[in-house]
Amino acid sequence: MRRTLMSLSVVAVAAVAAGTVLGGVAQAGTTLGAAAAEKGRYYGAAIAAGKLGDSVYTGILNREFNSVTPENEMKWDATEPSQGRFSYGNADRIVSQAQSHGMRIRGHALLWHQQQPSWAQGMSGSALRNAAINHVTQVATYYRGKIYAWDVVNEAFADGNGGGRRDSNLQRTGNDWIEAAFRAARAADPGAKLCYNDYNTDGINAKSTGIYNMVRDFKSRGVPIDCVGFQSHLTNSAPSDYQANLQRFADLGVDVQITELDISGGSQASAYGAVTRACLAVSRCTGITVWGIRDSDSWRTGQNPLLFDNSGNKKAAYTAVLDALNSGGMTVPTGGPTTPVPTTPVPTTGGPTQGPGGCSATVSLNSWSGGYVATVRVTAGSAPLTGWTVNVAIPSGGAVTSAWSATNSGTSGTVAFRNVSYNGTVAAGAATEFGFQGTGSGPTGTPTCAAS
Ligand code: XIL
Repeated sequence: MRRTLMSLSVVAVAAVAAGTVLGGVAQAGTTLGAAAAEKGRYYGAAIAAGKLGDSVYTGILNREFNSVTPENEMKWDATEPSQGRFSYGNADRIVSQAQSHGMRIRGHALLWHQQQPSWAQGMSGSALRNAAINHVTQVATYYRGKIYAWDVVNEAFADGNGGGRRDSNLQRTGNDWIEAAFRAARAADPGAKLCYNDYNTDGINAKSTGIYNMVRDFKSRGVPIDCVGFQSHLTNSAPSDYQANLQRFADLGVDVQITELDISGGSQASAYGAVTRACLAVSRCTGITVWGIRDSDSWRTGQNPLLFDNSGNKKAAYTAVLDALNSGGMTVPTGGPTTPVPTTPVPTTGGPTQGPGGCSATVSLNSWSGGYVATVRVTAGSAPLTGWTVNVAIPSGGAVTSAWSATNSGTSGTVAFRNVSYNGTVAAGAATEFGFQGTGSGPTGTPTCAAS
């Protein structure tokens, strides 16, 4: 049943993507987020709540990025400092910042052997298993509808152990701890893509193959998993089989994401360019996140592995990334939706056109009992757009819980979604996308699109 529905969705979404190349003349994006959005992808940064008051930092964040990952604020020690008492203040500050700018949020990380609260470090057996699953359930429920993708489990495989698991208190609760965590996360937030995330997995090696085998096993047994994150903390360059490795995971039917990119030494700019091109070449590579904004923000102190220098100036690596994002055609990922229990997307044609050449909107839905993720494609009419507003009728009883690549006014009734800074300009006949999550049943009516 699920497989049949997935296939239908894939066909419909691929058809909407029109052979992966959208109409119209692509305009070069002038920021990382805008350029990535033209390729149907996001470009994100790990950020710290404590730095949001730094205007240089927040200025770069708001200008360049359309996705964020809390660097530490959603980890177990931050969100459940004592057992059963949850603390979301700093994580909420990041969520608000992202939501007010139409950015996606990657949740990081529900379970990990590091940065556990001290009370959990001292636990074992079924007490720890129960505490861990409760943690997953509570945190994923609290953020339900707001998270694009969760790193459900982080770094559970060992280095130099032939592709085996890492020893940890969590691993000692039983080998099935990872699937138990994924099932709990799916139940708590059916709209979030659920990722496994790790490092030293950037090429084809014993460790990445161990993870590959786990993902293949999960897919064959119906354990919910939607994506694999490749941290990509690199030195000098990516391995030569970087793209091939991403592709073999994508071929298992999961999205792939570059989740914590930083590159030290060597010819940094060309290495950043190569990583960008690898993601663009893999249709299910949905986005890239760099692990910090300025070199001075990096956890790799003194290695200067990021895209902006200590003063916030663009480095050569920045230009290499932007140029790579802007090269080639205007393609979008063709991978099928991996949100749970997908139903056949319901394309609806845009209503009355306004503005010089007008615009239209189509909606694809992935729905489950009690919620949905909507992907909306905005297509310019005969004249270019410099801004757009799409009005969507939300069925009564439901509400919009988050939006990305658009900002919404209101959450119920008729909700207006406006372009954000990087996707208001759309060439005649070209298209851009935004998305939102909601509770209740998905919109079935015809959205209207107003051009400006
Ligand atoms: C790092 C943070 O950047 C540091 O601020 C913190 O002190 C330690 O953790 N892999 C991960 C990230 O998944 O969570 C880590 O982040 C870097 C390695």
